[in-house]
Parts: sequence; C-alpha cells; structure tokens
Amino acid sequence: MIILGIETSCDETSASIVKDGQTILTNVVSSSMAKHAQTGGIIPEVAAREQSKYMIPVLDEAISSIARDIDAIAVTVGPGLVGSLLVGVESAKTLSKVWQKPIVPVNHLVAHLYANWLAKEQRAPQFPLIALVVSGGHTDLVLMKGHGKIKWIGGTRDDAAGECFDKCARLLGLGYPGGPAVSAEAEKFKIQNSKLKIRLPRPIISEDNFDFSFSGLKTAVLREVNKLKDNNYFNNQTVEQLSWEIQEAVTDVLVSKTIKAAEKFKVKSIILAGGVSANSRLREKFNHQSPASPKLQRGESIINRQFQLHIPPPSLCTDNAAYIASYAYFNYKPVPWREIKVLPGLTITGEI
Ligand code: KG4
Ligand code: ZN
Repeated sequence: MIILGIETSCDETSASIVKDGQTILTNVVSSSMAKHAQTGGIIPEVAAREQSKYMIPVLDEAISSIARDIDAIAVTVGPGLVGSLLVGVESAKTLSKVWQKPIVPVNHLVAHLYANWLAKEQRAPQFPLIALVVSGGHTDLVLMKGHGKIKWIGGTRDDAAGECFDKCARLLGLGYPGGPAVSAEAEKFKIQNSKLKIRLPRPIISEDNFDFSFSGLKTAVLREVNKLKDNNYFNNQTVEQLSWEIQEAVTDVLVSKTIKAAEKFKVKSIILAGGVSANSRLREKFNHQSPASPKLQRGESIINRQFQLHIPPPSLCTDNAAYIASYAYFNYKPVPWREIKVLPGLTITGEI
C-alpha cells in the first residue's frame, strides 16, 4: 500500500510517500527554522504563512518523483499550532476529494514512534514495548502492547525536555533550536577534558514514578548564569561547562526513568522518538547501558541483554511526513474528509 503523508504541525512543511509503512520512497522536508532562529523561537503566524508558501511546492516535489498510484493520504491533525495544522489538513482534504482517495487523520505524537518502523537496517520493534517520546512540546513515557494499544504511564509535569534545552540555550545566549546548540557547546567541553565545576540537579530522578520535571533545572541554570555574570566568569568556557551539565542532567533523568519503566513492565523493546532523541549523548547513554556484542546488528543492542533498543536515525527523529505515512499504514482508519478537523491540544492517548 502506498501512502502519501503530510506534516505541518510546527515549523516544518513535509510530504512523504511510504510503501507498506516501512519503505520511504520520498521524503521532502522544508523547514522555516532559519526564520525562527532570527527571532529566537517560533512565532505561530510566521510559521503558518511560511507553510502556506511551501505546501504546494513540497507536495509537487514529493508526488512528481513517484510514478505510482497513491492509495491513501495521511495527515497530522494534532497536536500542534492551529494555523500550521490547517495548512496541511486543508491540503490533504482537497487531494482526498479530487483524487477520490481515503484520508487517515494522524496523531503527531504517536506517529513520532513510527520512525522506528521506517529505519531499514533495524528489525521491527517487538511488543510489548516502552516508548520515550521527547520533543519540543512533549515528554511522555508510554507502554505499547500493539499498534493502537497505547497506555500513558508518565510524562513531564511542566516543561518538555526539548523546551528545557531551548530555554536553557536562550539563557546561555545560544541559538534556536536550543538542543543542537547546547549539544555542540557540550561537545567542546568534552573535547577539552577539563574539570567540571558546575553541578545541576537531576530533577525527581529518585521518585518512584515515571514523571519528569524540567522547569527547576532551567531555574537552576538561571541562578548559575547570574552568579557567573556577577563574578565576571560568564565566558565561553563556563557556557560550555553549563551546556555539558545541562545535557548530562536531562539525559540522566530520561535514561533512568525509561529503563525503570522497561524493567517494571517487563517489555521486549525500548524505542525512542522525537527531536531530542537525535541527541548524541542520549543515544550514547542508552547504548552504553549494554556494551553491545559485535555480533549484534544495529537496532539489536540489548540493554542489560534484556531489552531490544531502537533509536531512529537523527534525520527521522525530527518532524517529517514519513512517519506520518507509516503510522497510517499500521493504524489504517480512514475517515470521510468532511469529518477531519484539526485538534491542536491532542494528547498522546487522545481520541481523534
Ligand atoms: O520532534 P521535534 O522536531 O518537534 C516537535 O514536535 O516538537 O522536536 C524539536 C525539539 C526542539 O526542542 C529541539 O531543541 C530538540 O527537539 N532537539 C534536540 C536535538 N535536536 C533537536 N535536543 C537535543 N539534542 C539534539 N541534537
Ligand atoms: Zn514532533
């Protein structure tokens, strides 16, 4: 089955064509990130205006490269920015009506997980599994017993992990998006191999639950920045140190709670998804939980030899339409186009 996916929930405009939920035939992504970098964050109206400019060229490029019939259309209906979502949803409805093809509404957060079914060199994840979804707006841990069988077991009580990176980056005077910027500074600190003098908290790491809280970490960073500025020590070196420690704190908590959940629910696989799972230190920490035997193939490293670990390639972690199409293949529930509406506040277990 050939599905055209459309994604416009945040600042990307993407169209992708995927065969049988696993093989990407084309994946076109246009980002207005550079525009948002100038303002230090996303201005919703600017994002939607850019998307309405790029939607048709992106669709055109995706469709024209495929000489095959499309069987269905999949589109993100939420969560996301309302103006941005509307651009993709109205385009998808129009195509559905004109082509007379079924249309499948997609939950963007659940769809992120399907990047793990697209990664070609990996075996498909085994159920039951624990999924950690870490993006700019969400941080959730879910137990998945099959396609469409998702139970939320924990999440952030305040800021998302990506949001924490973005806010801390701003406090450090780094660019947007903050995750890659903090990560690049942290790498400089690692290479210098100097002594770490700044310590940050690992919020609620020892609490007996699967929740997260990142707003306190941001406040702790603000305190450190102010102290350093007062003493004239706020410079490249201290920014690099702080970046390292921010990345350590966030990733320590994410890894610890995810593994605790996998142990408690005795799952077969752990899967990661969302923009923050592109973070190399997070990937390294998950992988290091098990020195993978050289005989194991990628995607088969097993944490403590108990769980299969799946992490999508970085290009599939951030927003794109390939996983939207994949989700629709494994959760194929077409809806008459007239009934499709945008759901900006949709949660990971929300009804579409
Ligand atoms: O999933 P995503 O592309 O969009 C949302 O649906 O939110 O995630 C974007 C988030 C941003 O907060 C960005 O700073 C973060 O993912 N991010 C990273 C990295 N790449 C993107 N965070 C840490 N390290 C990275 N390498
Ligand atoms: Zn996303």
